[in-house]
Formats: sequence, structure tokens, C-alpha cells
Amino acid sequence: MLTEPADGEEPAFSQSINLFRRGQTVFPGGVTRATVDKDPNPIYMSRGEGAYLVDVDEARLLDLNNNFTTLLHGHGYEPILEAVSSLLSTGTCFSNPTKHEIALAELLTSRIPSVERIRFVNTGTEAVMFAIKAARAFTGRSAIARFAGAYHGAYDWAEAGQNGFEAAPDGRRIARLGYQGAPSAVANDVLVLDFNDADALEEALTVNAERLAAVLIDPMPSRAGLIEPAREFIDRLMTVADRHGILVIADEVLNLRQSFSGASARYGLTPDLLVAGKIIGGGFPIGAVGGSAKVMAVFGGDTRSPMVSQGGTFSANPVSMVAGRIAMEAATPAVFDRLEQQGVRLRAQLTATARKHNAPFSVTGAASLLRLHPKSEPPRSFAAAVQRPDELARMRFLCRFLRREGVLLPHDAAACLSTPMTDMDLDHVADAFDKFLTQHSFASQEAQP
Ligand SMILES: Cc1ncc(COP(=O)(O)O)c(C=O)c1O
Repeated sequence: MLTEPADGEEPAFSQSINLFRRGQTVFPGGVTRATVDKDPNPIYMSRGEGAYLVDVDEARLLDLNNNFTTLLHGHGYEPILEAVSSLLSTGTCFSNPTKHEIALAELLTSRIPSVERIRFVNTGTEAVMFAIKAARAFTGRSAIARFAGAYHGAYDWAEAGQNGFEAAPDGRRIARLGYQGAPSAVANDVLVLDFNDADALEEALTVNAERLAAVLIDPMPSRAGLIEPAREFIDRLMTVADRHGILVIADEVLNLRQSFSGASARYGLTPDLLVAGKIIGGGFPIGAVGGSAKVMAVFGGDTRSPMVSQGGTFSANPVSMVAGRIAMEAATPAVFDRLEQQGVRLRAQLTATARKHNAPFSVTGAASLLRLHPKSEPPRSFAAAVQRPDELARMRFLCRFLRREGVLLPHDAAACLSTPMTDMDLDHVADAFDKFLTQHSFASQEAQP
């Protein structure tokens, strides 16, 4: 059912409403991916310009989503446009390899310490799937451990546990499956743990050691609250996994954007396999699985056939390879430093503003990533990050308000910065938040809007 703008304040999005009506005649739910924000209706974009989006009604919005954190350099980054434009006339996909894939691989292996060998695929989902298969082939075990609430894409074993677990009568945790009808056997092979709980992690890994191929960890899981890992937790994970021959897979599809060498390097994690995506494609579809030469040999050695067959019609297509290389070359240590400083500043501004108004909002995140929570205290666990209906309503209310102020903020996932954003752009975000809290008092009542 089409939801009209609830408070009658948004006539500006009328072309989007018309397009949504058309979309509803051809797509289930009216759109082509579950993650599209439909509150109160999807906003259809006409184009992107640097840090901004322009929608079909010509409204300009500062883009704090950046296609789910993908666009490190924002929209229409000139060096990528030039390189891709000149590449197009030479061909966009071949069954043969090109020099472009080697150039991107050389760049990534030279800066991500745990990646000696790499394979390219088309999405993060695919890359996580191949990392899990690689860990299984390498260890000869089938189960994985993962952390409640973390999003790892749509492979059945990566999806189970994304929404937490059910407690069985004997106290065991049964991973919640991604959809009704998903094979129940999947739940047997997915252990759901709590992020940052080192003692429980050690116990679970020790008890299940013989069947565990890998621990799958996103170093700062966005949907589970965008909470940083504790050093002690990371250290224990590596020690215990190593003791039992369990591989560690770092899913950095989102968090590679934390630093020049990624998130694992930042937090002292040395994974056996690392999954990347998003920023390494420069705005084009991509995923990658990398790791030590020893483990990555499951995908192919010189003398034997691969233990895991990894193909993909569009894998390593030259467009994604070239765009990715240009994006990553431009992402120098100085660029990451600037993004980090801007992130620190914006998070501090938003936190101070919420405190000033004694309002139930708080902020988590690191580097160029942040999440605003409709909660007085920043959550420290997935359970604490889950939004109650009144909190969700408050967050949606804020996102709608910010949209009218020209800011696009995701309501339940990581927001992020891009290199074309200026300090003035970010001050505008903080000012708009201040205006919202000035106009709508929530002072310490945890109330509904
Ligand atoms: C941590 C993480 N892993 C995996 C994925 C899946 O990537 P893709 O959407 O490219 O399939 C995502 C996507 O948001 C992600 O954030």
C-alpha cells in the first residue's frame, strides 16, 4: 500500500510518489531491494553531484548514505568518470583476464596486511560466501560462528543469526534463519555469539572446536549498533581460534573504509581471510576475498585442481577493476586522516547537541562512519541497539525532518562521510539536528514524537 506523506509537509517529493506508484506495478513491494528506505515513500534520485544527491523533484540532499557506505569519493568523481569513459569503448567484460585486475590486486595486497592473495567477485554477499567455503575446504569442518545482529549479506549461513537467536529449553542458542523455509540444517551449522563478550566466545569456540571452520566477524558491525571491538575481545578471538585451528574471517565489506589498511589493521586483528567490497569498486559492483597464500590456495594452486571452484560471469570485469583502482589510489593516508577528523568532529557535535537538549539520542561509530541511535545512552550490544517501536518512530521522525533540511540520513544503519564533504556540510548536519531538537522537545522522557 502506498503511504502518503504522513504530516502533509512533503509536497516536494511528488515525482517520487508518482514513480513509486509505477514501481508498485512491476516490483514486489514497489522497489528492487529490501534496503530501500520507504518512509514515507522511496525518494527517486535523478543524479549525484559530489557530496550531494538531487532527486527527481530537484531537491538537493547531502548524502550521508553514499550507497550504503560505498562511495568514498561521493558522486561523479572526475578521475573515475574519465578512466571509465575511455575504457568503455575498449570493452566492458571478457572471458579472459586483463591487466586491470592485477593492478587492483597489487594495490590491495600491498596495503592490507592480511591479504597476500585475492580473488574478485561481484558483491559482498558473494565474497562472504566464498570466504566461508574456503574456510570449510581448508579445515574440513562445516560450521561457522558469527555475532548476533551483524549483517553479512544473503548466503544462508551468513544470514542465519543476523536477527539473533532463539533460546532452546536447554539454554542452547538456535540461530534465527533468514526466511521461512530456509533449511533447518543451516541453524545447526551457525553458532551465534555476542560481540565483545570474550569469555562467552572462548567457551563457545572451545566446546565447538571440532566442528568450527571459522569465526566470521565484522570488526564494527553496522546493523548490530556500529560498536567498536574491545582490544581484549580481539586478542582472545585470535588466541582461541588459533589454538583450535579455527580460521578468522574478517568481513570488511563496509569497514575497510576505516583506514588506509582497513579495520582489522586498526583493531589489531590478523584474520586468515578478509572480505572486501563497496569502496574497492569505485562505485561499480565488486566483492573480494583475500587472505594468506596458504589458505587462498583452496581456490587454485599451480599443480592441482581447486578445492573451491570460484567463477562468476562478471567477476573482475575491467570497469569495476579500473574504477576501484582509481578510487583506492585517491584514498591516501592523508585522505583517511581527514575523513577521520571530520568523523570525530561530527560525532562529537551530534553527541553534544543531544546532551544540550537532554534528548534521547546518542552516537556510535569510528573513522568516517557513524550511527545515530534514538536512545539516551550509546548501545554497547546488539540487544541494546535494537529499536523499540517508539524509538523507531522517533528515528524516522528525525530522518524525515533532516530530509526537509536537505540531509539524507539512514535510520537504522551506518551513515558515512565522503571526501567531497566540507566542514560546512557537516556543520549543517549538526545545525539541522539542533534545530530538530529545539523544535521537538524529548527532554529525558524517552517519549514518542
Ligand atoms: C559487512 C557486510 N557484509 C556483506 C555485505 C553484502 O554486500 P553486498 O550488498 O555487496 O552483497 C554488506 C552490505 O552492506 C555488508 O555491510
